[in-house]
Amino acid sequence: MFRFKDYYHNEVHLSFEEYPFSKEPKHVWVICRYGDQWLLTIHRDRGYEFPGGKVENSESPDDAALREVKEETGATVSKLRYIGQYKVLGKEKTIIKNIYYAEIGEITPQSDYLETKGPILFAALPEDIGRNRKFSFIMKDDVLVKSLEKVLAEYVV
Ligand code: GTP
Repeated sequence: MFRFKDYYHNEVHLSFEEYPFSKEPKHVWVICRYGDQWLLTIHRDRGYEFPGGKVENSESPDDAALREVKEETGATVSKLRYIGQYKVLGKEKTIIKNIYYAEIGEITPQSDYLETKGPILFAALPEDIGRNRKFSFIMKDDVLVKSLEKVLAEYVV
C-alpha cells in the first residue's frame, strides 16, 4: 500500500491488491491504450486526463469504466483489466476509485462528449505533467506514476 498527498494536499491511499478499500467503489479511472498511444480525454474544467467518473446506481464499476471511456472519448474497449484501487480522503468526503487498464478497439467520433471535449492521443506522456497546466490535477500525483509503472511492466508490449 502506498500513501501520499495529491495536488490539493489530500491524503491518498493506493493499492494494487484485489479491491482493498471497497468491493463497490463509486468511481472509476481508466488508463487507455490505443495501439502504441495513450488515449486521454480533454475535461472542460480540469484538462487532459485518463477517462473516468462516477458509477451509476444501476451499473457495476466495470460497466461504468466501459461507459465513461465511450462517453468521454468515443472509444470502445476491447480488453478491460482491473489493476488497483485508490482512496482520496478529501476535506468534505472520501472517494474510492477502481483503476483499470483498457485496450481500445476503435474510436468513433461522437456529436457530444458530455463534460469533456473528447479524445486526445499521446505517443508519449510529457515529463512535466506535474507542472503542465493543460493536465488535470488527477494526473498530478503518484496514482499516475505508480499505475503507469505497473501497466508498462505488465501489459504494454
Ligand atoms: P459532484 O457530486 O458531481 O458535485 O461531484 P464532486 O465535485 O463532489 O466530485 P467527486 O465526488 O467526483 O469528488 C469529490 C472530490 O474528490 C473532488 O472535489 C476531488 O477533490 C476529489 N477527487 C475526485 N477524483 C479524484 C482523483 O481521481 N484524484 C484525486 N486526487 N482527487 C479526486
